[in-house]
Amino acid sequence: MLVARLTDYSTTLLFLLLGRDSANTGSLPCSTLSNLLPRKVSYPASSSYTSSILSYFFLQEHLAPACILTPSSTSDVAIAIAALSSIHSIYPAAIDLSIRSGGHSPVKGAANNNGGITIDLRALDSIDVSQDQTVVSVGAGTLWNATYAKLDPLNISVSGGRVAGIGAGGFLTGGGISFFSPQRGWACDGVIGMEVVLASGKVVNASAQSHPDLFQALKGGSNNFGVVTRFELATFALGDFLGGARIFPSSTVPQQLQAFNTFMQPENFDEKATAISGYIYDGPIGQQLVSIEVEYSLPVLDPVALQPFLNISGALIDSMRISNLSDFTSELATDQALNSRGIYVNTVFSPTLAVLEEIYALWNSSIPLITGIDNVQYGLLLQRLPATILGNNNSLGLGPSAVFDTLCLLSVTWTNATDDELIYNTTQTLINQISNVTKAACLFNDFEYLNYAAFFQDPLDGYGTANFDNLITASKQYDPLGFFQSGVPGGFKLK
Ligand SMILES: Cc1cc2nc3c(=O)[nH]c(=O)nc-3n(C[C@H](O)[C@H](O)[C@H](O)COP(=O)(O)OP(=O)(O)OC[C@H]3O[C@@H](n4cnc5c(N)ncnc54)[C@H](O)[C@@H]3O)c2cc1C
Ligand SMILES: *[C@@H]1O[C@H](CO)[C@@H](O)[C@H](O)[C@H]1NC(C)=O
Ligand SMILES: *[C@@H]1O[C@H](CO)[C@@H](O)[C@H](O)[C@H]1NC(C)=O
Ligand SMILES: *[C@@H]1O[C@H](CO)[C@@H](O)[C@H](O)[C@H]1NC(C)=O
Ligand SMILES: *[C@@H]1O[C@H](CO)[C@@H](O)[C@H](O)[C@H]1NC(C)=O
Ligand SMILES: *[C@@H]1O[C@H](CO)[C@@H](O)[C@H](O)[C@H]1NC(C)=O
Ligand SMILES: *[C@@H]1O[C@H](CO)[C@@H](O)[C@H](O)[C@H]1NC(C)=O
Ligand SMILES: *[C@@H]1O[C@H](CO)[C@@H](O)[C@H](O)[C@H]1NC(C)=O
Ligand SMILES: *[C@@H]1O[C@H](CO)[C@@H](O)[C@H](O)[C@H]1NC(C)=O
Ligand SMILES: *[C@@H]1O[C@H](CO)[C@@H](O)[C@H](O)[C@H]1NC(C)=O
Ligand SMILES: *[C@@H]1O[C@H](CO)[C@@H](O)[C@H](O)[C@H]1NC(C)=O
Repeated sequence: MLVARLTDYSTTLLFLLLGRDSANTGSLPCSTLSNLLPRKVSYPASSSYTSSILSYFFLQEHLAPACILTPSSTSDVAIAIAALSSIHSIYPAAIDLSIRSGGHSPVKGAANNNGGITIDLRALDSIDVSQDQTVVSVGAGTLWNATYAKLDPLNISVSGGRVAGIGAGGFLTGGGISFFSPQRGWACDGVIGMEVVLASGKVVNASAQSHPDLFQALKGGSNNFGVVTRFELATFALGDFLGGARIFPSSTVPQQLQAFNTFMQPENFDEKATAISGYIYDGPIGQQLVSIEVEYSLPVLDPVALQPFLNISGALIDSMRISNLSDFTSELATDQALNSRGIYVNTVFSPTLAVLEEIYALWNSSIPLITGIDNVQYGLLLQRLPATILGNNNSLGLGPSAVFDTLCLLSVTWTNATDDELIYNTTQTLINQISNVTKAACLFNDFEYLNYAAFFQDPLDGYGTANFDNLITASKQYDPLGFFQSGVPGGFKLK
């Protein structure tokens, strides 16, 4: 009876139910959800609650919501959002909601919270290949390695994450860099449709034909407009290809910087080639190393575009091989520090050798600040910014020439919470020093990649005024009461 009445979402009923003094965060919304969706809400100390919390990649997200909802269908999500947004419209302070897919964000509170409600979308993990194999429809909680395990045997693929365990939801709504980005742009450009639960609880399909403004907003706009429950992705043919990593001693740094600069020169551009040139201080071994991760999306061993990297000799470890996408994404997952705290911070610029050398020197001279930190892995990673040659139909605001820009990522992991502040300070100062250098050389691009952005960065602002205004307009249109702003406060908000 209660359930039946609640599904009317009647404001009056909710008032009665809430009472004037019971609007404490967490407990009332949780009991409402338990009534509406029995057996799909879990509470602290239960095994499903605990396994959800422990499955977040970074320890900063191992928080303690009052309850976790695990929907198993789009309509479960719709029922929950309708109820929560009704409560929010009466008692905004009663709702502190997080939306979670793969749980790989390093930003504390982006996909989890203390004392509120988390919707864990991992059970929305269906993977359906269309009969003609041109479209794959994935639930928003699907992990990329599960998708690749299904597509590899068919010799088709989609633009998705490069590391096993990343989810579709956060990755695609934030942009998405795949191994195929130089050819296919941001992974969100490979999305042809999304099923979205709006704040009202209404379910809409967003595509170029249907709600195109919402469709565009969700390609870069993160969790600001609705809960995406399904993505339709365009496929392409893919067989085995060249990929892998080589680890070098730091004596090769000058050659490595030169190789990256050569790789990035427009005349050397090859849409099949990708590379991450990584400089890492490994705390436990007390040494600096260079790691190159390269791919070429054909089964050839020595492509010219990758020769600047592949010609460097003296690798300590070498996993270059021809293999499949699943294999490369699992390898990259095993390379990650597990059970760690983490931060990503990024800045973008047009590269020259002189500026790359200066950036490396800034990073190198910051190492003494962090050498005392337990289990620290302190990385400076250089890679190509994805192209948008497929058409600028996302919200990121980048033109085709962005493919010649360098995305510079500071990626740090450590294990003790007492070190958080020092890492945050050190990386914030370093990224400012780096952008000061690129600004002085007139090479700076004010774009920041949302999925690699730190809590102290503002990636939505970097999309440019016109795109940002479109995001605001879409928010007013699809979420007039601002539920996805104040009711879903974590991550990067429109403000
Ligand atoms: C080990 C590792 C490797 C990575 N490799 C890459 C890479 O190769 N390329 C790359 O581009 N990025 C990479 N990233 C960054 C990654 O893209 C982001 O962390 C991304 O947000 C993860 O998506 P998720 O669904 O797993 O995250 P979550 O933490 O679940 O979500 C991230 C954000 O998206 C929102 N969100 C999630 N699902 C939905 C949804 N269905 N509807 C609306 N909003 C939603 C959440 O509220 C949250 O704010 C990597 C990160 C890690 C930790
Ligand atoms: C995907 O990767 C994650 C993390 O490495 C792992 O836990 C999971 O079992 C993998 N799933 C599949 C289908 O391989
Ligand atoms: C992918 O490569 C791995 C490692 O070689 C192999 O075990 C697996 O069978 C391959 N998958 C497909 C679909 O070929
Ligand atoms: C996939 O490609 C491999 C290698 O070319 C081939 O042996 C296999 O038959 C192909 N599979 C399908 C389903 O096309
Ligand atoms: C969205 O699209 C799917 C498949 O294309 C369809 O089954 C569903 O009914 C559509 N939903 C709405 C609300 O239009
Ligand atoms: C890499 O080495 C090969 C073989 O020595 C040589 O032919 C090629 O020109 C080199 N490539 C570059 C980019 O230096
Ligand atoms: C990094 O800095 C140290 C001094 O702190 C210096 O000795 C070393 O040569 C530098 N490394 C490189 C590769 O320039
Ligand atoms: C961009 O989207 C619009 C509709 O939203 C569509 O008409 C146009 O073809 C798309 N352009 C590209 C390059 O995909
Ligand atoms: C974390 O650091 C603090 C302060 O240095 C120290 O007291 C504590 O033992 C450390 N914790 C662990 C688990 O090492
Ligand atoms: C971090 O920076 C803040 C503000 O500049 C400062 O107050 C604090 O002492 C710094 N903390 C550490 C550990 O460096
Ligand atoms: C960057 O440049 C600005 C403006 O010149 C200056 O105020 C700031 O201190 C610099 N930041 C760093 C970290 O060097």
